[in-house]
Amino acid sequence: MTKELSRRNFLKTAGIAGVGLAMNPQAIFSKNIATKTRKEKIAVGVIGVGNRGRHLLNLLSKEENVSVPAICDVNPKAIELSLGILKKNGHENVKVYTGSELAYRDMLDRKDLDGVIIAANWDWHVQMALDSMKAKKYVGMEVPGARTIEECWELVNTYEQTGTNIMLLENCCYDRECMAVLQMLRDKLFGIPMHATCGYRHSAWGTPKWLKPVDTVTKTEHFVKYAALRNADQYPTHGIGPVANWFDINRGNQFLYLTSTATRAQAINEYVRKHPQGGPNHPNASYKFKQGDIITTVIKTVKGETIVVTYDNYLPRPYSRDYSLQGTGGMWSGRYLVKGIYLEGVSPKDKWQKDKEYDAYMQKYDHPMWKDHYAKAQNAGHGGIDYFTIREYVRSVRENAYPPIDIYDATAWSAIIPLSEASIAKGSTPEYFPDFTKEKWKTRKPAFGL
Ligand SMILES: NC(=O)c1ccc[n+]([C@@H]2O[C@H](COP(=O)([O-])OP(=O)(O)OC[C@H]3O[C@@H](n4cnc5c(N)ncnc54)[C@H](O)[C@@H]3O)[C@@H](O)[C@H]2O)c1
Repeated sequence: MTKELSRRNFLKTAGIAGVGLAMNPQAIFSKNIATKTRKEKIAVGVIGVGNRGRHLLNLLSKEENVSVPAICDVNPKAIELSLGILKKNGHENVKVYTGSELAYRDMLDRKDLDGVIIAANWDWHVQMALDSMKAKKYVGMEVPGARTIEECWELVNTYEQTGTNIMLLENCCYDRECMAVLQMLRDKLFGIPMHATCGYRHSAWGTPKWLKPVDTVTKTEHFVKYAALRNADQYPTHGIGPVANWFDINRGNQFLYLTSTATRAQAINEYVRKHPQGGPNHPNASYKFKQGDIITTVIKTVKGETIVVTYDNYLPRPYSRDYSLQGTGGMWSGRYLVKGIYLEGVSPKDKWQKDKEYDAYMQKYDHPMWKDHYAKAQNAGHGGIDYFTIREYVRSVRENAYPPIDIYDATAWSAIIPLSEASIAKGSTPEYFPDFTKEKWKTRKPAFGL
């Protein structure tokens, strides 16, 4: 409470809430800083080569002048499949680190690695990232990253102490529509941005994992385990990443506080109760899962915008990330919702511009990254966004450049997990975001996609 009040007072006395609307941070752009230490050839290791890790490994090992001399996993099957991928992509003599949960530390002792990608299970992200930064390996960390406020601070402090770069591998930041909207915003197409929606609405309904009694779930089965343990938006970064870029978060703007509300937990019980291998006597049919089926979070920014973030992973439904943006001049609603644009004074009154008209806007504002690399990106997974994520990580490691998605982005976005949990637990109270930038947000310039 003291912390909340002092942050609120600080913002009031600094008069920042009003200043934001008058200054225009969108006009102040900056380039990522390339350094003199560019390396033509780089070596990257991968820790955690499960489903996601192998997908990233495949993309990484196809990049020119990137060698993958080391991988690490505790699961022999994952190792075997990964070695097959590496061999197919021309990487021989790969050293495997396995046999214990801390085997990755031996991999970090190698002198030849410039970077490491961390795609292990949620519990391991932070410890592995801290160890990797201390070992001076450029970190690429999978989402969701940190899961407590303390972990967020540990990441920030270790980054600041070691100076080792760390990039959050939030692939949704490279979503083609979202990048076009970023261009539109920078061109002031929607006037002053005021409100956005986003989320991660990806049904796990139907997953056989739900039939595993909770007390038999292994350490690595994060989805079921955390549904039992926590009531929070457990996966906020896919939704909030692109939106944070739209609103220049940590670059002239900041998340101020959030409020979160949960439905009751019903989906897993219901699924198991009706399943032929479950039934009413199955332990998961009546287990009291903590996780509410849908979590609705509203974030207020320092400049007075609002963002609705929805976490909806349990009920049956089609996939969506719910992106939309509304400003003083009109609004955009992407392919998951309306797929339309409305511009006051341009669009017919009260009518969305859709289909060909919508496509014309998207084409006009298509980000140069997408224009230039569409052919390569389209086959790379998740509609191309993974291609750009790995490409940008590799570019950053090669140039030892500051990452496009940095530690302050990572921690502000990940903090939604514990803050939403705290808000829900206390009856949807406002929970204030710590300032991980330590006031640097006031002078930092927008950088993503420039
Ligand atoms: N960005 C995206 O679109 C996206 C998509 C899927 C998953 N993910 C994220 O990627 C991560 C991995 O997800 P997944 O679906 O591949 O899970 P997974 O369970 O298939 O893979 C995780 C791997 O990590 C290994 N592992 C666990 N502890 C380890 C340790 N101490 N040392 C070495 N290896 C260890 C496991 O054996 C497993 O092979 C998660 O954080 C997930 O949220 C991101």
